[in-house]
Amino acid sequence: MGERKQGAVNQHSRSAEGGPTTPPPGLPEPAQEERARSARLTARLRALMAEAGGALPFHRYMAEALYAPGLGYYAAGPVLGEGGDFVTAPELSPLFGRCLARTVAVALEQAGGGVVLEAGAGSGALAVTLLGELQALGALPEAYLILELSPALRARQEARLALEHPTLATRVRWLQAPPERLHGVVVANELLDALPCHRFLLDEEGAWELGVTWEGGRFAWARLPLEDTHLAQRVRALAAGLPRPYASEVGLVAETWVRTLGQALERGLMLLIDYGFPRHEYYHPQRAEGTLMCHYRHRAHPDPLVLVGLQDLTAHVDFTALAEAGVEAGLEVAGFTPQGAFLADAGLGELLTGAPEPERLRLAQAAKRLTLPHEMGELFKVLALRRGPGGPLPGFRLLDHRPRL
Ligand SMILES: C[S@@+](CC[C@H](N)C(=O)[O-])C[C@H]1O[C@@H](n2cnc3c(N)ncnc32)[C@H](O)[C@@H]1O
Repeated sequence: MGERKQGAVNQHSRSAEGGPTTPPPGLPEPAQEERARSARLTARLRALMAEAGGALPFHRYMAEALYAPGLGYYAAGPVLGEGGDFVTAPELSPLFGRCLARTVAVALEQAGGGVVLEAGAGSGALAVTLLGELQALGALPEAYLILELSPALRARQEARLALEHPTLATRVRWLQAPPERLHGVVVANELLDALPCHRFLLDEEGAWELGVTWEGGRFAWARLPLEDTHLAQRVRALAAGLPRPYASEVGLVAETWVRTLGQALERGLMLLIDYGFPRHEYYHPQRAEGTLMCHYRHRAHPDPLVLVGLQDLTAHVDFTALAEAGVEAGLEVAGFTPQGAFLADAGLGELLTGAPEPERLRLAQAAKRLTLPHEMGELFKVLALRRGPGGPLPGFRLLDHRPRL
């Protein structure tokens, strides 16, 4: 996300006012080919809804909208970066990856070597920078593994790495599923916000899972019984302190992902970078419409029920839940800090002062976007989970926000 605009309000009760491929007012119309793909995805979703008895839980709708083979937003190969729907930190500037490399290098040393596994590598921007910087630091990993679900993005990553690092590219291997065992460092930037989330609604009549149905020629919200036991437990634990109506998200898929990778990690570190909050801030009584956002051509809006397959859907992450998932997998919470403080402690200043004059100004502009509190500096956070020998890590020495989890 990085430069995904924030602030619009999400309304659980809202449904599309036009047809399913009509963008909200003010947003550009999709091209004819995009409409056709969205229509195919709509037909697939309607068939799945019919099979499920009328409605799909939101997490299943989101999984299809993002990852349905050949049709979902990520599966079809989104345009990432300045010309696309949103810009992430590695797309914004190599400064991000160069700082992160300092943490990765120390973590590899503490772990006694191993591999780097990048999960959800997007356009390949972070892989290119991390590999280059790790080489410059004399800390190249045994191998650089990329766990990527989207075939279209994998092809893009392969091409980019072959072009920009023809010699280092031979160290890179792609995985389609998490490995069973891992020794080294896992890096995931803006992966967990892109995993399907569960939605719930508390109203005067009770607690519900939010689902999606088809009604009057468009997708619409549906209240479903809260049957998923994990979701029900979490909602029950949150419900007492919250007003009615109140809708929000629970990232059960993201938590499972962290547990799975955490269990596989025999020795080393996981670095999870994303936008979100500790639980007490996430489920704030005033955040009564949740954190779900849609991004389409650099515009954020709150309606996930339109432009299916053509827009990114994302929810903030609950860092407390991720830390708990790591601890359940036997990991230690080695650090939690905002991105601005992380980059400052991981060498951002030195990289800026060391840059030649004409480049320095451009880098300074990017550094501001990465670190200023009203840009990406505060909302984005870095969580480090570790198994095995420890020690201080660049990035986490300046500001320790672990007590906030
Ligand atoms: C928002 S993009 C972030 C890309 C990149 N990390 C960056 O910062 O520019 C999310 C990425 O995660 C990938 N992805 C989504 N679900 C995944 C999963 N379960 N396993 C691996 N990759 C996944 C998407 O295809 C995409 O590459």
